Amino acid sequence: MTRYAYHDLLPPQAAMLDDVLAGLARTPKRVAPKYFYDARGCELFDAICALPEYYPTRTELAIMTAQAPAMAAALAGDCALIEIGCGNSAKSQRLLEALQPKAFVAVDIAEEQLRASCDALSRGFPRMQTIALRADFEQAVDLAAACLPAAQRRVLYFPGSTIGNFTPAAARDFLAHWAPLLGAGGRALIGVDLIKDAARLDAAYNDAAGVTAAFNLNLLTRFNRELGADFDCDAFRHRAFYDAAAGRIEMHLEATRAQTVTMGARRIEFAAGESMLTEISCKYSIAGFEQLARDAGYATLKCWADAGDQFAVFLLGLD
Ligand code: AVI
Repeated sequence: MTRYAYHDLLPPQAAMLDDVLAGLARTPKRVAPKYFYDARGCELFDAICALPEYYPTRTELAIMTAQAPAMAAALAGDCALIEIGCGNSAKSQRLLEALQPKAFVAVDIAEEQLRASCDALSRGFPRMQTIALRADFEQAVDLAAACLPAAQRRVLYFPGSTIGNFTPAAARDFLAHWAPLLGAGGRALIGVDLIKDAARLDAAYNDAAGVTAAFNLNLLTRFNRELGADFDCDAFRHRAFYDAAAGRIEMHLEATRAQTVTMGARRIEFAAGESMLTEISCKYSIAGFEQLARDAGYATLKCWADAGDQFAVFLLGLD
């Protein structure tokens, strides 16, 4: 028996084809990182999170394990928690135990993981109302508004430093977009990866086992299968580097030779060495993220970081 409500808001496949073609028509070419997360992409992402080089997941999990009771105390009282990009829900588990919210809305783009997480969480927390929204992050606002009882304090939970996959301007707009739904007294808990030594950042996105490369290249396999493209996956390579001036990792797929790819009715030319940008991952200082939050209309009420200042979880508030 399903113990949670499920809503699928994802646009049809044709929208994905149009969106990917539009990105590949730009100069330089780009593809939205949301397309990483088909079933194989989710598996590879879970494997990335366990890599020795990929510190963010275990660092954030340690912060959540140590600080969830303090976070719950700061959020005090009945609330509805809305988690963006719930993935395998490892971090929400800690928070839910401490917070015991009345309602939990999980938003993710990957159906299998979303269902598995909501199934497990609704069993683990039977008194909590659980709602699964399969949607793009920005899209979810209106439906989340329709699903949630008005009386509870609304808390947006956006862990994993996924906010770093937006440009800073888009991250600010994203937070501002959620503010009316959260309302006066609303709160946001945001996981943010902090600026650090470039070598450590480079290693996190260029792991020795090649899992991040497989995750990146899986995009092409997905486009071949779902969009009828004919990418030769052996003719592209993974490239990731930290741009210190911009404070961000860039991840690319680079053509190792000149080639023409067909997708839908379109032919896409790649010069040798030409790349498509598949992801940015912005890193922040604590002061830098506080400023971004302020620009979006939020005050920073608290910030929990690990001892090495690798990662931080910010509690933001709306008046
Ligand atoms: C989901 N997101 C926060 C990850 C990141 O670190 O930007 C995605 C990722 N890409 C490569 N490794 C991990």
